[in-house]
Amino acid sequence: MKIDRRKFLSRTAKAAALVTTFGSRLAQGFALVPLSELAKDPRRPQFHLLPARNWMNDPNGPIFWKGKYHMFFQYNPNAAVWGDMHWDHAVSTDMIHWKHLPVALAPTPGGPDTDGCFSGTAVVHNGTPTFIYTGVSKAPPEASTIRDGNNNFKEVQMYATSTDPELRTWTKRSTPIIAGPPKEFEFSSITGFRDPAPWKQGDTWYMAVGSGIAKKGGMILLYKSADLQEWEYLHPLISGTVPTGTAVNPVDSGEMWECPDFFPLGNKHVLIYSTQGKVFWQVGDFDLKELLFHPQQTGWLDYGTFYAPKTQTDKSGARILWGWIPETRPTAEYSASGWAGLMGLPRILTLGAENRLRITPAPGLQKLRQGETKLQLAPAEAGSKIMVSSPSLKNACGEILCTVLPTEPFSLDLLNPVEKSEDKTDAKALETQASLLSIRYSHANPGELIVDRQKMPIHLAAGAPLELHLYIDGSIIELFANNESTYTKRFYYPGGTAPEIVASITGKTSDISRLTQWQITPISKDRLTT
Ligand code: FRU
Repeated sequence: MKIDRRKFLSRTAKAAALVTTFGSRLAQGFALVPLSELAKDPRRPQFHLLPARNWMNDPNGPIFWKGKYHMFFQYNPNAAVWGDMHWDHAVSTDMIHWKHLPVALAPTPGGPDTDGCFSGTAVVHNGTPTFIYTGVSKAPPEASTIRDGNNNFKEVQMYATSTDPELRTWTKRSTPIIAGPPKEFEFSSITGFRDPAPWKQGDTWYMAVGSGIAKKGGMILLYKSADLQEWEYLHPLISGTVPTGTAVNPVDSGEMWECPDFFPLGNKHVLIYSTQGKVFWQVGDFDLKELLFHPQQTGWLDYGTFYAPKTQTDKSGARILWGWIPETRPTAEYSASGWAGLMGLPRILTLGAENRLRITPAPGLQKLRQGETKLQLAPAEAGSKIMVSSPSLKNACGEILCTVLPTEPFSLDLLNPVEKSEDKTDAKALETQASLLSIRYSHANPGELIVDRQKMPIHLAAGAPLELHLYIDGSIIELFANNESTYTKRFYYPGGTAPEIVASITGKTSDISRLTQWQITPISKDRLTT
């Protein structure tokens, strides 16, 4: 059997972009890694959502329904590499503890989604939960909208409904609701047509679909409908600019924008899309007469390894962002490990000063805290300029919160003590330790934080401290800097034991108003999240 895989190529030095292509490989040779081994793999997270085994990517159709949060996500049931996309399903009462349910959506042999159920959205229409998603089938290049050098796929938009209160079973309409991109574009120049994101405005459904035009740039197509089945194409909601570089895969060059999401936030609208290995956000005004979006602020949603996110509203109406955290190790390594990819923690989106996006970890995560330790400085140390470090975090499963008002250059490093030292506050001992993450801030350059080599914007109000909030889980670090810029990182290590991790700080100790660390309570008894 021939299956497809998703391959992460190298980063461009300029954008540090995670570049993606659809690839292909033979399935032979994949031995199934036993669940007992997966449950012991210290690199598997303990408080993030991921399937018990195999490959996952984008969150799909997250929805709060009948008192429960349902999460669906791109899933390959056959191997820990991209391919044969299904929608896997998990359910939760708090968006933190999950129970896996059987796969919700599978390709229909011979149907318009015979080669994959790609990403999409869940909405409720007249009381019925409905999936709108992209179906793909292999086709000759002249009939394909995915032509990325590895695959030729025809993409169509599909429809499925569920009457099951637990959303386990779904009934598909056998024919597409949109059979191809708008006729007004030259078919051969369309760079993709996928990831539908409908929303309701008054009595009308609107829908954004990711697309683009070769040599012109990515764009988001806007459609309208009364019933989610008959769709009328209107115009591009927004279009990108001519890309500077070229690539075989138009997602790598920015000629195709994937996974759009468009929603109101405060008195503004937010557009999110993924391209060139990065997620872009734009905040602006949605002109309801012209049905055009006019962005006023823009940025990256995460400066590290985070892709194809999707939002939902929680039961209180807050806007929650979910994103896929991919692997950054070689394909051969993750496919041999038996699992690949995970879901980021729930992040709350709000608008901040000057309508910039604010990104805050969901407060429910605080329930998982245990074993709090606080940095206590002896009076003699306070005010001096020294290196201090936290007690070590066990099992790579914890949270660190540091609040600092830097009057001197400041750094926070997560270190893996390679050589065990009795005295973790001994600067010389710490010098020999491997760095998992480095964060640098200088009051001389107050608008930026440097994380590893990546610059991230920071807007500190006069006199306001900088807050660094870190979640560490197996092989993942999620950093929330000032609840404004986020950075997600993967770190790997050999063997069957997670390293101990310490936070090491250099700067003026009197600048530090808080350094608190918690161990985190795992969300399941093993690493299988059942
Ligand atoms: C983004 C993406 C989507 C597509 C899905 C396929 O990661 O490429 O555009 O629907 O993955 O798995």
